[in-house]
Amino acid sequence: ARTAAVIPAAGRGVRLGPGAPKALRVLGGMPMLIHAVHAMADSRAVSLVVVVAPPDGAPEVRSLLDAHALPERTDVVVVPGGESRQESVKLGLDALPPGYDIVLVHDAARPLVPVDTVDAVIEAVRDGAPAVVPALPLADTVKQVEPAAPGEPEPVVATPDRSLLRAVQTPQGFDRATLVRAHETVRGDVTDDASMVEQLGLTVVTVPGHEEAFKVTRPLDMVLAEAVLARRRH
Ligand code: C5P
Repeated sequence: ARTAAVIPAAGRGVRLGPGAPKALRVLGGMPMLIHAVHAMADSRAVSLVVVVAPPDGAPEVRSLLDAHALPERTDVVVVPGGESRQESVKLGLDALPPGYDIVLVHDAARPLVPVDTVDAVIEAVRDGAPAVVPALPLADTVKQVEPAAPGEPEPVVATPDRSLLRAVQTPQGFDRATLVRAHETVRGDVTDDASMVEQLGLTVVTVPGHEEAFKVTRPLDMVLAEAVLARRRH
């Protein structure tokens, strides 16, 4: 079965501070999105990458991609994205040609995921899992709070057992038909694609995640990403 990767890259990146859409911010001399595309294309199994660009930014993204060589075995398609991440992923899925039975969904905001993590996700889907997520144990204890009025302290209502919690990353890998069905039937806000498959009643499995697959969200994450790239160059 052939494997395609959909990269939602249409977010504004508000938490990163003012500037270009997050995926187009530069890391080690190259836009974050280009790192993310290379991270997918590094896997020999991936032969198509669908980039979901900011709604008005598809031509700009196309020319950026044309300026950065990819392995010959990899095709890249660019489509405009939507209002939410979920909508952007759906628009990417709609652009997939027939023949790709395994689909990865990978955040442009995780530019440094190592190829071994990508391959482990693909392998687990090939082995029959309908949905696979890279996951890591948590360093911090997590509290559940009750919403409070602005400026008021939030009361803690629960402390879930940390040993059973995982932080999940991307790429998340899917049997294509399952992911398409999830996007057609599940409504309501979600923050990842695997949770939509959970809502279908199917079992999502984990593979080990990687520290370097962290999501670039806040300004400090840019500092960390630059440091990881500098270390790779040595
Ligand atoms: O906002 P968050 O960090 O969860 O975004 C994760 C990924 O989803 C990013 O790569 C972002 O560009 C993408 N996204 C998108 N379309 C949106 C919002 C976010 O493709 N409307």
